[in-house]
Amino acid sequence: MDRETRIKVALQKSGRLTENSLNLLRRCGLNYSRGSDQLICFGENMPVDLLLVRDDDIPSLIAEGVCQFGIVGLNVFLEKAAGGPGLVEPRQLVDLDFGRCRLSVAVPRGFGYQDPAQLDGKRIATSYPRIIRDWLAARDIRAEIVTLSGAVEIAPRLGRADLICDLVSTGSTLAANDLEEAEVVLDSHAVLLGGEEPADPAAREWAERLMRRIEGVVRVQESKYIMLHAPRGALDAIRDLLPGTEAPTVMPLEGLDDKVAVHAVCRENVFWETLEGLKRAGASSVLVLPVEKMLA
Ligand code: PRP
Ligand code: ZN
Repeated sequence: MDRETRIKVALQKSGRLTENSLNLLRRCGLNYSRGSDQLICFGENMPVDLLLVRDDDIPSLIAEGVCQFGIVGLNVFLEKAAGGPGLVEPRQLVDLDFGRCRLSVAVPRGFGYQDPAQLDGKRIATSYPRIIRDWLAARDIRAEIVTLSGAVEIAPRLGRADLICDLVSTGSTLAANDLEEAEVVLDSHAVLLGGEEPADPAAREWAERLMRRIEGVVRVQESKYIMLHAPRGALDAIRDLLPGTEAPTVMPLEGLDDKVAVHAVCRENVFWETLEGLKRAGASSVLVLPVEKMLA
């Protein structure tokens, strides 16, 4: 496949999403080697290349058709994509289970924050002007938004703003800058954005395959394979207790007429509480195994 027909996936160059994003692609079966400039990873066993860029640039790379897929935080997606000027809606949007963080309003220690009304007339430094503007408008608060592309957390100390709206994950950046989280504006996590379908039929097929594999990886992370023995009479009760199961396989047990073996794929995580419930319902020899791969 020549260069034009290869699939390109845009990932964050260095940051909270990088490692998990590369991991996700590896779990889709992609082997890659990193180019000498460190900005492109060439797929060795699939016509898929990874572009390592600033996360803020990913939505436009997809909108312009340079990349067919990208992984960003929901915060970046909402700020730069969804209905943004000159940007198209992604064709596909898949929630990924990493990169959890919050977009929050944070105030200098001693601000005495109690209510959003206190933000009225204040200057708020942020890299997320659209999101905070909507949030303020919904609360009828008039504040000045100071848009900065980085180092937002030092803006109050420099006198450029009274408070900030920025991403918080561990909270250590806020603590290091004498800031306190006041309001959560958005709970964020990583999302996969899918752009326009490639025109080339072979590339289109690979794009679809990659999409299906990513969905499979996401589904598999939550899924468990469960095996147990159950008295025939308790089968209905046990079936009801298995989380996210369609049709469990029921098999006879050699030499035991009143008991059966039940195997099922649970599409949700199986917690200790579920196992205890199964035991109470009469199940024994309960085993829970991780699912390695899944293709719907
Ligand atoms: C965010 C934010 C803070 C830091 C907060 O930046 O701007 O600097 O993370 O994390 P903490 O609560 O764990 O200290 P990010 O890494 O997303 O970089 P970017 O916004 O420049 O892409
Ligand atoms: Zn960024």
